[in-house]
Order: sequence, then C-alpha cells, then structure tokens
Amino acid sequence: QANERESLYLVNEFAKQYFHNTLLKTEPGKAIGLSYFKERGFTDDTIEAFSLGYSIDDWSAFTDAAVKKGYKLEFLEKTGLTIIKGEKQFDRFKGRIMFPILSMSGRTLGFGGRILVNDKKAAKYLNSPESEVYHKSKVLYGIYHAKQSIAKEDNCYLVEGYTDVIQLYQRGIQNVVSSSGTALTPEQIRLVNRLTNNITVLFDGDAAGLRASLRGVDLILEQGMNVRICTFPEGEDPDSFAKNNTLEDIQAYLLEQSQDFISFKASLLANEAKNDPIKKAETIRDMVISISKIPDVIKQEVYIKECSRIMDISEEVLFNTLAQIQQKDN
Ligand code: CTP
Ligand code: MN
Ligand code: MN
Ligand code: MN
Ligand code: MN
Repeated sequence: QANERESLYLVNEFAKQYFHNTLLKTEPGKAIGLSYFKERGFTDDTIEAFSLGYSIDDWSAFTDAAVKKGYKLEFLEKTGLTIIKGEKQFDRFKGRIMFPILSMSGRTLGFGGRILVNDKKAAKYLNSPESEVYHKSKVLYGIYHAKQSIAKEDNCYLVEGYTDVIQLYQRGIQNVVSSSGTALTPEQIRLVNRLTNNITVLFDGDAAGLRASLRGVDLILEQGMNVRICTFPEGEDPDSFAKNNTLEDIQAYLLEQSQDFISFKASLLANEAKNDPIKKAETIRDMVISISKIPDVIKQEVYIKECSRIMDISEEVLFNTLAQIQQKDN
C-alpha cells in the first residue's frame, strides 16, 4: 500500500502545481482567481508561500490535463480530485479558489476549494474526501508553515478557517493553524502538542456555536495543555481583523484579550445563568466537567478556587461536584 499512497501524493502534488499555475498563468485564473485573492489582501509572496490556486469552471479541465500527463484515473479518483460516473470523468473542484492542505512534512494531502461569490445553493467550501493520504481528523491546515514558529514562540494559535491562517501569517503571526471547520480531534491536538504545551483558541466573533465549540476545548485540557481563549468583535474573524489592523495592533489585541480558558468559560456561564437557579446548577456541572479533564490535581484546585470566586459558589460545592464526576468516570 506504500506504493499506492505514493501515487496519491504524486497526483496531489501535480494538482497543487496545476491549480497554482492556472491562477497565475491563465486568463480565467488571473481575471477571476487572482483578482479575488488580491481583493482579500493576499500578496504575491503569500500566494506563492501557500501555493494558492484556481480551478476553472469546466467539467474536466484538470482531469484531462492530468490524464494527458500520464496520471492514472484510478489514483485521480482515489484522491477525490476526479469523480467517475460510468464512462465519464468530472473534476470535483470547478470554479473555486484552491487551498492545498499540507502535512507536517510538506506533502500535499488534499484541498479546500472556495466558491468566489457566496451563494446559498453551493457550499462555500468544498474539501477533498477522506483518502489513503487525507484523514481530516489528523490534519491541521497551516501546520507545515507554522511548526517552526510554534516551537519558537512556545504557543499555537488555533483559528477556524483557511483565510484566518493565511492572513495572520502574512501579517507576521506564523504560529497559527486551523482545524478547518471540523470539530477538534485528539489527533490534531497531539500534532500541536509535539511542538508546544500552549494553545490559544481564536474564535470568530459570531457567537453562534461558541458554547458548543467550548466542548471541543475540553479535549485540549485532557492532554494536559494550557488553553487560552480570545474572541473577536461581532462580525469579525481573525482574517478580517488582521486585514484591517497592523501587526502591532493585532499583537496588542491578542495580548489584552486572551484569557485563560477556565476563567473565560466561568465568566461566560456565570453571566448566562445570572438570574436562573436551574440554569446555574447546570452551568456549574458543565464548568466542573471541564476542570475534571485537567490531569494535574494542583491546577484543578487552583481552578476550583477561581471558579468559586467568578461564579459565586462555595469551593466545597465545587469540590464535591468534582468528586462526583470523577467517581462516575471511573
Ligand atoms: N468550512 C467548510 N465548509 C463550509 C463552511 C466552512 O469546510 N461550507 C470550513 C472552512 O475550512 C472554513 C472554516 O470552516 O475556512 C470556517 O468557516 P467560516 O468562518 O464560515 O469561513 P471563513 O474561513 O471565514 O471563510 P471566508 O472568510 O472565505 O468566508
Ligand atoms: Mn509558484
Ligand atoms: Mn465562523
Ligand atoms: Mn470565519
Ligand atoms: Mn472569514
């Protein structure tokens, strides 16, 4: 199977070059794709660094080119770049700007493709399907570009999307990766944990799903990592914020707004449940569940004390709840 994997890597590598070349050297690429990237504020260097590309709006332009170069349909199909229906072959990505997804060592595993004009009928982003080389639960977009900086800064910024990674990187914040819209997995966290013990999660300022996303953050605590949270103003995400601010402003914002995860969550929940005793009981459990994930008992105690203060609940009740939860888990 090693040979087959190698063949899929080669197909993906060809596709990366093909889409990148289409963006820079063809009329539709320049008129549609390149001008879109320019509008988003991406420089030539950035487009080069991330090998950004464009797939033209055609049924099979990419597949035809790949077959002509001698790539086998079998492998084109297995990467998901080509869809075969009966006698016919179709390109998966059509009329989309292309983001190659690289492994830690820089191999091309798959692609994300974005439509140019938001349209309720088509998914904004289309991604490569799972394949022998692309397991979305084990990949972080940007990890190849970020790894050195993560180790050097001893911190990793985790953002929601492709463009958040790219825009921050372009501004000079290079220790940034994205789980690309999927819920964070233990494998993704382990990837980061090889390089640092500290993660700062940057959430889009669209409140929707913030509480649900916090559950995923418990997974980071479980691995004994330190987690900080930073949110953005309503309607902004790290991409738009970075586009409209200087590096100094962004760094100042991250420094001022990042909060320890447990304190962040305690304040959020305390605020939500302010005048509702039933809700308050629920949020206390929710809070203590997060604390129960932390492997270090000394840290647990520090956090219990802090939550007691923020949520205005006695430490004793919190410690008892913790003991209950831990008993259940065993
Ligand atoms: N995503 C996806 N499929 C969708 C929508 C989103 O896979 N239909 C993933 C993408 O990886 C995207 C991330 O979720 O980058 C975050 O989604 P969102 O915040 O909606 O997109 P942005 O990254 O902000 O993209 P853009 O600025 O281009 O709109
Ligand atoms: Mn190039
Ligand atoms: Mn979002
Ligand atoms: Mn976003
Ligand atoms: Mn965005």
